[in-house]
Amino acid sequence: MSARPAPTYLLGIDTSCDDTGVGIVERAPDGSVRVLANRVWSQTVHAQYGGVMPELASREHVERIDAVLEGALAEAGLTVRDLGAVAATSGPGLVGALLVGLMYGKGLAQALGVPFYAAHHLEGHIFAAASEADLRPPYLALVVSGGHTHLFDVPQDGEYVLVGATRDDAAGEAFDKIARLAGLGYPGGPAISEAARRGDPDAVPFKAPLQGQKGFDFSFSGLKTAALLAHRAGARPEDLAAGFERAAVRFLVGTTLRAAQACGRATVVVSGGVAANRALREAFAQSGVQAVFPGSGLNTDNGAMIALAAAAALGAGRPPSPLSEGAVAYAPLANA
Ligand code: KG4
Ligand code: ZN
Repeated sequence: MSARPAPTYLLGIDTSCDDTGVGIVERAPDGSVRVLANRVWSQTVHAQYGGVMPELASREHVERIDAVLEGALAEAGLTVRDLGAVAATSGPGLVGALLVGLMYGKGLAQALGVPFYAAHHLEGHIFAAASEADLRPPYLALVVSGGHTHLFDVPQDGEYVLVGATRDDAAGEAFDKIARLAGLGYPGGPAISEAARRGDPDAVPFKAPLQGQKGFDFSFSGLKTAALLAHRAGARPEDLAAGFERAAVRFLVGTTLRAAQACGRATVVVSGGVAANRALREAFAQSGVQAVFPGSGLNTDNGAMIALAAAAALGAGRPPSPLSEGAVAYAPLANA
């Protein structure tokens, strides 16, 4: 009698910015995946500086990563000996911060004698949605976070064609900056969303950005300027929030739908921190395309998404990464 093939437990580490993330994913022999644990330590040390201090981020990752790993293993009910593969983000991100997770992951993989996968941060964001649906190309992927606003066409496994990107700020960055301007707190996304419920979206005029463009780029500088001028003129913070959120959501959804039509895609993956936005989710739900979002806790930076990307790489038969793989600050995902 032959034993049933065992699942593989994959560990994922992300230390690309100011979150120390460790997640564990179970990959069944039929390729289906399940998130067993997802632990994130969000660094608060940066709040006093109004932005992420790279050197402090690296040091905090070093101090926290052991405890975050312990927490993830306990949550999954596993020990390190159960792990079948280890993955870590190699880029893009802050090099010093990336190095902590990357070196930790390589060391762990080597000590355990299991394969190591270096993962691309944006591929991680995209595969975060694999926890909710069986992600099979072709599809369009909108990655909207504090650092990225990228639209990729994914015609087949591992192939990413950049069809649009922001020309200035990332979407999340615009949420953060406008929240700060209006005194709504940090992080700005959830703060804007919360305030918007009490505001009048018609009180402050926000013109749709890049009207008439043939391509699929994004821009948030015009919305930011409109918010600044309205703030100076005495607009209420909740009205600013409501007007900006509606304009940003319409712009993101409208551009993505045009791209989906142009590329002939019926499925759109929406991921990254801003994908947690309720108004954005509702607008996509009513848009007619099949919109796939990551599950709870998987929108913002985390380790489980890196394990999910590695599970997909494993499934596609991609070879593990050499231990010589280094950290890279700037790493475009598109390969066409
Ligand atoms: O993916 P993420 O954790 O970090 C990067 O890789 O950048 O995204 C963080 C961003 C922040 O800018 C935050 O304000 C935004 O995601 N965000 C949101 C919401 N929750 C987080 N933006 C809009 N609505 C939300 N509910
Ligand atoms: Zn991210």
